[in-house]
Amino acid sequence: MRQDLEAVKTKLLAYIVSSNEPSGVFKSQDFRGLYSDMKSMAGDDKIAYGKSVNKIKAELQEAILVKENTLLNIPLSPIDITAPWQDNGSRPELLDSEFGSQHPLTKELEKVIGIFTRMGFEAIESRQIDDDYHMFEALNFPKNHPARDDYDTFRTEEGFIPPAHTSTMQHRILVEEKPKLETDGYIASISYGRVFRNEDVDVTHDHTFYQCEGVFVSKEASLSQMLGTLRNFFEVYYGQSLKIRTQPGYFPFTEPSLEFMIERPAVLGGKPGDWLEMLGCGMIHPNVLAMAGIDPKVYRGFAWGGGIERLVMLKYGIEDLRHFESGKMAFLRKFA
Ligand code: DAH
Repeated sequence: MRQDLEAVKTKLLAYIVSSNEPSGVFKSQDFRGLYSDMKSMAGDDKIAYGKSVNKIKAELQEAILVKENTLLNIPLSPIDITAPWQDNGSRPELLDSEFGSQHPLTKELEKVIGIFTRMGFEAIESRQIDDDYHMFEALNFPKNHPARDDYDTFRTEEGFIPPAHTSTMQHRILVEEKPKLETDGYIASISYGRVFRNEDVDVTHDHTFYQCEGVFVSKEASLSQMLGTLRNFFEVYYGQSLKIRTQPGYFPFTEPSLEFMIERPAVLGGKPGDWLEMLGCGMIHPNVLAMAGIDPKVYRGFAWGGGIERLVMLKYGIEDLRHFESGKMAFLRKFA
């Protein structure tokens, strides 16, 4: 005989509240009855009934936890025991949830994404675990190519790779967005996220950092379009006009490859001639386009990639890259 679920639930909750062994509720006749009723049902009825029973079970489990905590006399206070504190030898200074704030990198990354999406780029987050194909092969690094060593790549025992750059997303973007070449005439995407390198940590290097990568493909894509796009980005991000310069670089996935530099603005403590390398870029190598099924005789592309921390450090005069991952309250509060 089907039961009135609400009435049964109320009874079971009352049992939990009054019992010294609240989890015993699952052995009770009333609780078991819910399942034996289900056996005699079929089709949609059974599915709907099963869902309701599962919901009741979840509510009971929560009530059991609360009751068990009161039995153990553990106060249910809203203190977050995982909150970081300052290492100043005193008592932990817990983070009051009212004063919590976004991490400076999250805040700045959102600004970066905002600038590019307003220019018409789609934005996708990069993966945090990847494979050799996307890290190297699809980017025109042949097997055993010495340039692979430049990327200080971590590997899991199973052979997976926590990506050392966001360029791992290039092949995916090209394959997925290829139909847009027919419909819109271009692909314009950025990819952003965490990357990892097995290198010694110092004021300008960390094992974990953030990058943002851009990919643009069309029949007329050119270096001058790329330089215009990048200059525009940096000028909006720093809120002032900037001098830019490039010098030759080398990446297997671009030809030609360039290093893109800006002159450190006077308001950020720069003197004329104080050039800072901000990112790597170039025209996408024909092999990279071909591997994604895009005909390099018809289409060209440009791409770039660079670190987010460097952008933010320059903007705010942060002298040590390691602050970002330190969890130090004094540092984080400056950006709250
Ligand atoms: N992936 C390179 C790095 O991490 C940066 C880069 C250079 C990205 C050139 C690009 C590019 O997309 O075209 O050092």
